[in-house]
Amino acid sequence: MCGNCHGEPWRHSKFQQWENSLHSESVFEGRVVADSLRNSYSDCNRCHDGQSYVDYTKSRKGPLNLTKADQKMLVCQTCHDPHGNNNQYQLRTTPPGQEILANGTNYSFTGTGKTCLNCHKARRDNSVYITARGSFSSTWGPHESTQGDVLLGSNAATFGFPYITGSHKNIDNACVTCHMAETTDTGTVTRDKVGGHSMNLHDADSDYDHTAGCQSCHAGVTSFEDFLAPQDFDGNGTAESWEKEVSGCLTNLRIALPPAGVDSVAWQLIARDSNNVNLRKAYWNYLMIGNDGSKGMHNPFYTIQVLLTSKNYTVGIKQISNEVPEVFEMSQNYPNPFNPTTKIDLRIPNTAPVSVKIYDIMGREVKTLVNNQVMLAGKYTVDWNSLDNNGANVSTGAYFYRIVSGNSVITKKMMLIK
Ligand code: HEC
Ligand code: HEC
Ligand code: HEC
Ligand code: HEC
Ligand code: HEC
Ligand code: HEC
Repeated sequence: MCGNCHGEPWRHSKFQQWENSLHSESVFEGRVVADSLRNSYSDCNRCHDGQSYVDYTKSRKGPLNLTKADQKMLVCQTCHDPHGNNNQYQLRTTPPGQEILANGTNYSFTGTGKTCLNCHKARRDNSVYITARGSFSSTWGPHESTQGDVLLGSNAATFGFPYITGSHKNIDNACVTCHMAETTDTGTVTRDKVGGHSMNLHDADSDYDHTAGCQSCHAGVTSFEDFLAPQDFDGNGTAESWEKEVSGCLTNLRIALPPAGVDSVAWQLIARDSNNVNLRKAYWNYLMIGNDGSKGMHNPFYTIQVLLTSKNYTVGIKQISNEVPEVFEMSQNYPNPFNPTTKIDLRIPNTAPVSVKIYDIMGREVKTLVNNQVMLAGKYTVDWNSLDNNGANVSTGAYFYRIVSGNSVITKKMMLIK
């Protein structure tokens, strides 16, 4: 109905744009919490069905037992209220007290972006959810809709130290400024496919990146590949674009998660290890960043910190301080002599790939403790439990341990006495 007037190509082609958005074909599994207002995160319909979102904004109970045939797509009237007070088609408002992420972080400052955040946010508070040893399943985690949390730099699991968040969250109208900037293409290449109500920023057919919304702050960029990362965060030998570095770090974390060494994750293995809170945290963060889908663009530095820290903890490297040390250093192991476990502290002044290996007195490699792992500047500690690379106990005697990072090398000696 709205499309009769707002569907004239190209000047008013809101309808054509909307048809090209996923909002015109939202999935629906028809689950509601019986007899409650639609403000529960267990109520799938409030974000996946147009009418139910309207009920949600009005703090209303909706009809129960909706079927797929009842589903209303996320249409014009889902977001716009034809009976709005201030102007005729104002955006629907959020119910009182609900302009918060699942972990309580407030987003009332995001202008028209609030409309997007009402649905595009995680369904759980990491700090409560991760430690609750409830049922684990293929849908365990923050949900597919983590964009709001990542943009705000909130709700990633921390390992003792806070992450520093970037400033994209302060962009006026948040999501709307970047995603709904109109395209200037009046021809047929990307018209209606990117920007505006298509919500898309990339057109796969023409491999086009829609940077119109970035221009006001990042003048001259024509592709997301133009944003070069300051460092080689994924440790593949070259500093590339932010998108490539973030994708690389996400792959590295996936390989580190169980089954380790394989480029996939099996949630069943994480479920089995139910006392390993750090593993669950790393898995939550992996899902949160992966599901965000922006390859770091929503919050570049935050994303990198979350991914690198999660990988460190997955492979047994613990951070002991986020203070940046002045010099590159590796401590004497402690205790020393030891049996069977000892610790080594590392001071990393610049973000870089690091390796720590243990050798016997013949110079043969016994154990790789840290394998070309990118570490953010900071202080870390690693344990060695006197097992070799094959998992066998090594014998009493002297060992050398060596840290290598770029041109910096330090070697020290330790004694295992059984
Ligand atoms: C009969 C044609 C017609 C139909 C049907 C129609 N619109 Fe409009 N709409 C217009 C025109 C013309 C304007 C521009 C009015 C102006 O700028 O004063 C407009 C303006 C708007 C605006 C901008 C309002 C503002 O204050 O900037 C929104 C939002 C909007 N329409 C949404 C809708 C929605 C949602 C529907 C379906 C429920 C709809 N329209 C149906 C003709 C129509
Ligand atoms: C009523 C809830 C709701 C609102 C409001 C909403 N979205 Fe969505 N959005 C969804 C759902 C649900 C999907 C996924 C549809 C599917 O895959 O079935 C989606 C999909 C998307 C996609 C495509 C994601 C992909 O995987 O390709 C983008 C981009 C998007 N939304 C951006 C926005 C922006 C920007 C806003 C604010 C202007 C917004 N959305 C408002 C629910 C919502
Ligand atoms: C707070 C809002 C919200 C709630 C509640 C919610 N979802 Fe979603 N869901 C979304 C959004 C937004 C997306 C799209 C995210 C994207 O594509 O990046 C999505 C995506 C999905 C997808 C993936 C769709 C695809 O095309 O890949 C499935 C499946 C899904 N949701 C099922 C459910 C189920 C089942 C429930 C209830 C148990 C539920 N959702 C509750 C917001 C929500
Ligand atoms: C997912 C939520 C959502 C849906 C669905 C949606 N809109 Fe919008 N619309 C917005 C937002 C957000 C804005 C920006 C509001 C602002 O900046 O004031 C907007 C702005 C507009 C405007 C005024 C600004 C402009 O660009 O001229 C019109 C007209 C409009 N929408 C019409 C429509 C029509 C017609 C449909 C259905 C085909 C529709 N909208 C569907 C969220 C939505
Ligand atoms: C700084 C600009 C910016 C802001 C603000 C922003 N986005 Fe994005 N978003 C991007 C970029 C860039 C991408 C990556 C597009 C690509 O590479 O295809 C992206 C990707 C996405 C995707 C994944 C699309 C896909 O095809 O899988 C979704 C969904 C999304 N954004 C939703 C949102 C929502 C919701 C908000 C507000 C909470 C938001 N964005 C805020 C720039 C932004
Ligand atoms: C309102 C201003 C504003 C807009 C719009 C904006 N950015 Fe940014 N962006 C910033 C600021 C300020 C920084 C500085 C670092 C930080 O705080 O995260 C930044 C940093 C970045 C960075 C990391 C550092 C760098 O410069 O390489 C990337 C990548 C980035 N933005 C991508 C985007 C993309 C893609 C868009 C559009 C889709 C966009 N930005 C839109 C303000 C903006």
